[in-house]
Amino acid sequence: MVIKTDHLTKQFKGNGGFVDISLSVKEGEVFSFLGKNGAGKSTFVRTLLGILHPESGKGEILGKPIGDIGTRKNIGYLPELFQYHNWLTGYELLWNHGLLYKMNKKDIKNRIEEVLIMVGLKGHEHKKIKEYSKGMKQRIGLGSAILPNPKILFLDEPTSALDPIGRKDVRDIILKLKNQGKTIFLNTHLLSEVELVSDRVAIIDRGRMKKVGTMEELLHSPVQLLVGNLNEKIIHELKKMDQNIKKIGNEIEMHVKDDEVLPQIAKFIVENNGLLYNMKKKENLLEELFIQTVGEGE
Ligand SMILES: Nc1ncnc2c1ncn2[C@@H]1O[C@H](COP(=O)(O)OP(=O)(O)OP(=O)(O)O)[C@@H](O)[C@H]1O
Ligand SMILES: [Mg+2]
Repeated sequence: MVIKTDHLTKQFKGNGGFVDISLSVKEGEVFSFLGKNGAGKSTFVRTLLGILHPESGKGEILGKPIGDIGTRKNIGYLPELFQYHNWLTGYELLWNHGLLYKMNKKDIKNRIEEVLIMVGLKGHEHKKIKEYSKGMKQRIGLGSAILPNPKILFLDEPTSALDPIGRKDVRDIILKLKNQGKTIFLNTHLLSEVELVSDRVAIIDRGRMKKVGTMEELLHSPVQLLVGNLNEKIIHELKKMDQNIKKIGNEIEMHVKDDEVLPQIAKFIVENNGLLYNMKKKENLLEELFIQTVGEGE
């Protein structure tokens, strides 16, 4: 495991922060932390990085306890609302970042060229950061995070300042990094970001982890059928696959163990004189799940 926490807790004077979070992130995984404002996402990441000290519980990164100095060279971090050094050019910022990571100058030079292309800032590197747009600032921040070619990246809302094209660009960069074998821990409140790039997602609400799993595990999307001539025989057979099928008029909603059974269902309905008008997987459920999960108890 690249990241592992065991009942990790950090609270600020008894409130805020996060409580009792146990999770593991595997090598090469994109793991998303999804939660609304104030849920505790940034506090969790800052605790993993050793910037904040946990009150109780344990955490490990690359097999070393959190806060371990030697591990830091393998970690890239894009903080949220990062205060940029406005008087520097983008190039100078990356250069200084490389020096902080104790990279040698030749490596920094070569790596800066790669990074500028990757984050789409080639040609803008000699402008002062104060002349950058918000989106360009976010890109140079991402560039700093990936500069040392770290094994793990913590990205705290990497697309919050970007327009839809910029968001897509960052998603593509995340997928490229994933293909290079990097492990990525992503904080976000954007459902689309989670759906499009994550292998697994944890939903965090008021400091507590409510759900964790792959999209498939969490959503387990039901199948919706629209059937004319619906008869008892059809219902009886469908109930063998899912005892809890929901039936409203001609519409049926049910869970199946995998998509392989869908053709069987269609065949069965037709053979029993049913008229199959529509069969589809319910979509857009992450939003529903999220609202249900974080809305509990409010
Ligand atoms: N340094 C601090 N001192 C006191 N309370 C804090 C501190 N940092 C965060 N908190 C509180 O902890 C809770 C979680 O904050 P955090 O910044 O981790 O949330 P978040 O999920 O990252 O939110 P956002 O989406 O707005 O970035 C909030 O209630 C916040 O007010
Ligand atoms: Mg935050």
